[in-house]
Amino acid sequence: MADRIPNSFIDELVGRVDIVEVIDRSVPLTRKGREYLACCPFHDEKTPSFTVSPVKQFYYCFGCGASGTAIGFLMDYSNLSFLEAVEVLADSVGLAIPREPGSSPKQADPPMQLLEIVGQANQWFQHQLRKHPDADTAVSYLKSRGLVGEMAASFGIGFAPDSWNALTDALGRSLQQREQMAKAGLVAQKDPDGVAGDRGVYDRFRGRIIFPIEDYRGRVVGFGGRIIGDGEPKYLNSPETPLFHKGAELYALHRARKEIGIRQRSLVVEGYMDVVGLAQYGIDYAVATLGTATTRTHLQRLFRLAPEIIFCFDGDRAGRSAAWKALQVALPEMHDKRQIGFLFLPDGEDPDTIVRSEGGDAFQARVDNRTPFSDFLLDHLTRQVDMNHLDGKAKLVSLALPLVSQLPDSVMKEMMFARLSALSGLTEIQLKKARSANLVPPRAAGRKAGPGPDSGQISPLASATSLLLQNPALGALVADMDELRRIKMPGSEILVGMIGLCKGKEGQTTARLLEAFRDSPHHEYLERLAVRANLIDEDALESQFKDTISRLLENQAAQHRMALLEKARRNMLDPAEKEELARLLQARAKP
Ligand code: CTP
Ligand code: MN
Repeated sequence: MADRIPNSFIDELVGRVDIVEVIDRSVPLTRKGREYLACCPFHDEKTPSFTVSPVKQFYYCFGCGASGTAIGFLMDYSNLSFLEAVEVLADSVGLAIPREPGSSPKQADPPMQLLEIVGQANQWFQHQLRKHPDADTAVSYLKSRGLVGEMAASFGIGFAPDSWNALTDALGRSLQQREQMAKAGLVAQKDPDGVAGDRGVYDRFRGRIIFPIEDYRGRVVGFGGRIIGDGEPKYLNSPETPLFHKGAELYALHRARKEIGIRQRSLVVEGYMDVVGLAQYGIDYAVATLGTATTRTHLQRLFRLAPEIIFCFDGDRAGRSAAWKALQVALPEMHDKRQIGFLFLPDGEDPDTIVRSEGGDAFQARVDNRTPFSDFLLDHLTRQVDMNHLDGKAKLVSLALPLVSQLPDSVMKEMMFARLSALSGLTEIQLKKARSANLVPPRAAGRKAGPGPDSGQISPLASATSLLLQNPALGALVADMDELRRIKMPGSEILVGMIGLCKGKEGQTTARLLEAFRDSPHHEYLERLAVRANLIDEDALESQFKDTISRLLENQAAQHRMALLEKARRNMLDPAEKEELARLLQARAKP
């Protein structure tokens, strides 16, 4: 495994296999026009919304948003790792996988090695819960919290004995293994009191119940460890590693995803034990954030599975403030058909305690009675003002407008204006004027990812990338790559790289482009751009793409011009820059 598969081989492979054949083996497809259709294997449905495009070599489900290439399909449908999926596909078309020769372990794909060591640690922790002499404390603690053995097994709960070196001794025999363990956050290298011994590292998780955290494909990428009984810190999580990103992962997402699809809703709670406790009472669509606030990535992941997200928080101040934070993050994601609800529990209760005292049905009834997004938004704001006075109403408007204007254009946005109008006594026209007079910024600036696959505004860069992904032939239209390379903004290197891959290459497909950027941190966003409805007529595609590229270049030139002008003002231009500025100013003067 130390050897790396060359990217060129992946590209060849994806160019060679036919996604229609690959999927048809597991999910029989029916031809419909230019595409193939089936009932989606990733969520429960009666009318088919799962489409496979032979042209793009890409699948997409209009129901649940699942999407990907042939490799992605095998990974998600058959739960294969990337390597395994590549092996299966290579086999099916009779290609042998070349390994890049001479790639030392250092250059090998670090996440694969980390995955392996984390997987081994997961097995080991689970084994300790069954076999370690001190495991009684953990087992009786779990029992005292009402957890049955089947649930512990189903969540892969494990036990880390109270030792500085038990895990290190078990898995870290070589220096290289210990390095990997450190990278994976299993051991720490700093040596507080010589506890690290001659191995130079010590176990991170000691005397704790271990909750393995899986990524959305079900591969363990990190752990949460709860102290047994009382003590501090109550929970200890894996640190950020190349595999594990708290702001992106959700506890139990892989396990819950099927039920989320069936129920068409997900439930977000705060703790590991909440998820486990709920599952024991038949509520299997809950996931938990990992001790962090809800992020936009969390929301996007959940919205891909079902159109409704319900947040469950404690009824206390901290709970309400966490809910308010989640609401603010969610605003720009609230496209039509999407919903968010809030469930506030009585003070002092959490989902785990309440489901055990009230049972699953009563909890389900609470979920059904959730507070809608818009109610919570207005309720939270009206609490802060005195609605009996004009001043209070004005304050309400000034608090609400910056939030409401972050909503994408939608029925909900219109309804919010209507409700705000009823509450404040201002007409909707007055409200909208107040917004467009720039009393409030139209949108929170500096947000990264754009909206979902179906609608809303996205940046010119994202738009160009989306058009190109869906129509690789457009790449040939870009004449001057050098000019394009000067654009420096997050993600611009992807567009440039993709255009490079499209120029002068026959048979380029969406799938091949996506696979070329599988390792990019933006891969998931690229997948969404690949299915975005750009709503452009086929014959306007070329001009739209060219216009978008021109806009990017113009923006870039304008920024560059400003920077040079600023330097000129401070008399800091060198001769080359002077010339450059003159050229830029002239270019602008041209019609
Ligand atoms: N958490 C954390 N670090 C802490 C405390 C909490 O990462 N020191 C995270 C954990 O993911 C935990 C969640 O926040 O599951 C909720 O914490 P809390 O409400 O304090 O605990 P409970 O989940 O209720 O834990 P338990 O029921 O086990 O007491
Ligand atoms: Mn709890």
